[in-house]
Amino acid sequence: MNQTVVTLDKNGDIGVIRIDNPPVNALSQPVRAGLQAAIEQVQADATIRAVVVHAAGRTFVAGADINEFSLPELPPPGFHEIFDQLERLNRPVIAAIHGTALGGGLELALACHYRIALESAKVGLPEVHLGILPGAGGTQRLPRLIGAQAALNMILKGEHVAAAKALQLGILDAVVGDEDLLAAALRYARELLSQGKGPRRTSELTVDPASVPAGLFEQARAALQKRPTGNPAPARIIDCVEAAVSKTFAEGAALEKRLVEECRRTQESAALRHRFFAEREAAKIPGLPRDLELRTIKRVGVVGAGTMGGGIAMNFVNVGIPVRIVEVEQAALERGLGVVRKNYEISVTRGRLTAEEVEQRMALLQGTLDYADLADCDLVIEAVFEDLELKKKVCTRLGEVCKPGAIIASNTSTLDIDVLAEASGRPADFLGMHFFSPANVMRLLEVVRGAKTAPAVLVTVVNLAKTIGKVPVVSGVCFGFIGNRMLESYLREAEFLLLEGASPAQIDAAIQSLGLPMGPCRMLDLAGVDVGAKVVFEQAKAGILPPDPSYRVVVQKLYELGRYGQKTGAGYYKYDGRMPLEDPEVETICRQLAAEHGIQRRSDISEQEIIERCLYPLINEGAKILEEGIAYRASDIDVVWINGYGFPDYRGGPMFWADSIGLDRIAERLDHYAQVRGNEYGYWTRAALLTRLVNEGRKFADLGIMQG
Ligand SMILES: NC(=O)c1ccc[n+]([C@@H]2O[C@H](COP(=O)([O-])OP(=O)(O)OC[C@H]3O[C@@H](n4cnc5c(N)ncnc54)[C@H](O)[C@@H]3O)[C@@H](O)[C@H]2O)c1
Repeated sequence: MNQTVVTLDKNGDIGVIRIDNPPVNALSQPVRAGLQAAIEQVQADATIRAVVVHAAGRTFVAGADINEFSLPELPPPGFHEIFDQLERLNRPVIAAIHGTALGGGLELALACHYRIALESAKVGLPEVHLGILPGAGGTQRLPRLIGAQAALNMILKGEHVAAAKALQLGILDAVVGDEDLLAAALRYARELLSQGKGPRRTSELTVDPASVPAGLFEQARAALQKRPTGNPAPARIIDCVEAAVSKTFAEGAALEKRLVEECRRTQESAALRHRFFAEREAAKIPGLPRDLELRTIKRVGVVGAGTMGGGIAMNFVNVGIPVRIVEVEQAALERGLGVVRKNYEISVTRGRLTAEEVEQRMALLQGTLDYADLADCDLVIEAVFEDLELKKKVCTRLGEVCKPGAIIASNTSTLDIDVLAEASGRPADFLGMHFFSPANVMRLLEVVRGAKTAPAVLVTVVNLAKTIGKVPVVSGVCFGFIGNRMLESYLREAEFLLLEGASPAQIDAAIQSLGLPMGPCRMLDLAGVDVGAKVVFEQAKAGILPPDPSYRVVVQKLYELGRYGQKTGAGYYKYDGRMPLEDPEVETICRQLAAEHGIQRRSDISEQEIIERCLYPLINEGAKILEEGIAYRASDIDVVWINGYGFPDYRGGPMFWADSIGLDRIAERLDHYAQVRGNEYGYWTRAALLTRLVNEGRKFADLGIMQG
């Protein structure tokens, strides 16, 4: 037995199997081997009358070891083998669950005969999020235990289920309060023995077909077909749960083994696993001292109660952090607070919040017209109009009123964080917190590290981002940071394609065929053509536009015509309510602009050309961002695009996707368009990093941490 990770001890006549594999007791090969040895030891020891399986540290087994998923074969022993062996024991086996029993962890517990948990515990089968299915008997045992409908629902959603609910569903047999779990499990085992209860094997149960709602599986398949996700797992999960109803355990288990392997080998599952690791990595900041003294954030200030300010404030009050929000005038303040209240009230109608919780949250949100009220805030985030002079003034004022040690942040999308940092007079305490709209919903937070931002400030904000449920990614200072800078080349090509004769609908359809929720034209119409045009004007002011007179002329023209998008009923499309309709007017505008700028119209623009022209320069820009050290890792860029721009997670983000296409192919197509489109303004010039990787036969995924 592997002595260090799994041990078997005896408490009187009860065997106690203890798993101790920090940090989360993942079921890696040594744990599986250790479990197998412990089971064999129990088999050989007739004095053991019952067995308790529990885990050391902060949680029960939180899942399989995801690193093993990328190996060609799972190193033996296999999950099915051990769990079947455990279940076959001829004495009652009780799982004692604290923390989380997820994936393989819950499957281990399901192979036990009884399950007892702390009331704070959670269970779940979240494999679907990694593009696989529970492959250690979960799809066969769970339906046998709680019925096909509940099991299908839980496995397809991959949700964590709280102990009380799990008890109600029948996953757990007992829930205990805040006490010594092992003692409770031993007591439970002795009670079972005194009642003469023996093993109770889930695999020997059957699902009564009469308990399965008519058409359950057909409806689940139809729903998937209606909304394809690109995830290879859901369809196979349905097949497995159906098999749990109609086939023997052995047949169902064989199907599960085959289908999980099929899923694991797909590119989509590899991409979803990449996303999982990428999000965890993104929160790690390289090269910082370990003993940083982090700052405590107990109260937050927000300046500006507009679209972003209100949403930003909600993030904090949602987790119980009080917020002071400053406006210039009472009417704007009331309007802003009113919007927040309305958002919460919508949550009440959807059953996500109670009226009482709305009042509790609103009570944490205090409006004021006086900057001096920010004096006791530990962090203040400004979200006033995007105007450099105004923002400089606001930052200077914040430097005056904030207490020493407070962190000052700007939510600017386009302005120079270092300029604002200097204006505050406290550049070490200053950084960018670039929330995405709607700020209370979107998971991405770009944390912009200024030239002088103190490491403790950066780490404090990255940790805080996690507290409020965001996915933080650190970006260096440049125009547009990581996401919007890459977006620029994408929008540039979309506009050139419009000038050359593609329609907005044609461009959007091509991009959507990749799995993005909307193409560039729909996106700009939704975000506001005015907002998009102002970014171009800001770039012009900052002197960073290419000297190309045809550069993004479409968005500027639409702005000039007051076609601001959905909100004005017309932009790249015209609108019937929210429904976008092709507008011949836009074609006329593009035709005229093309003539003005000497751009030839053509009718042979293919879907593939649209994809390559919009996305390959975006990837190339990503490579530049890496070589400049603006992003630390290629995977950080993927996290930005999945969480901030709807890039399909099953493609792993643009950099992972580029690796899967082949960087040599990307480079070849950039060179091709340089040839056919001309490269006067450097639009198609390859990033040096891209060329280097191609020459070395390497991928973005092979790069380590990039630091400028
Ligand atoms: N809207 C977006 O999609 C988005 C996304 C990311 C970042 N941002 C950035 O967020 C910031 C705010 O954008 P928004 O869309 O919320 O703008 P907005 O116009 O909706 O709100 C700005 C608010 O700031 C208030 N304000 C102006 N001057 C002020 C001052 N001196 N003191 C206090 N309040 C003042 C205004 O009254 C207004 O309510 C900008 O920097 C913008 O670039 C916006």
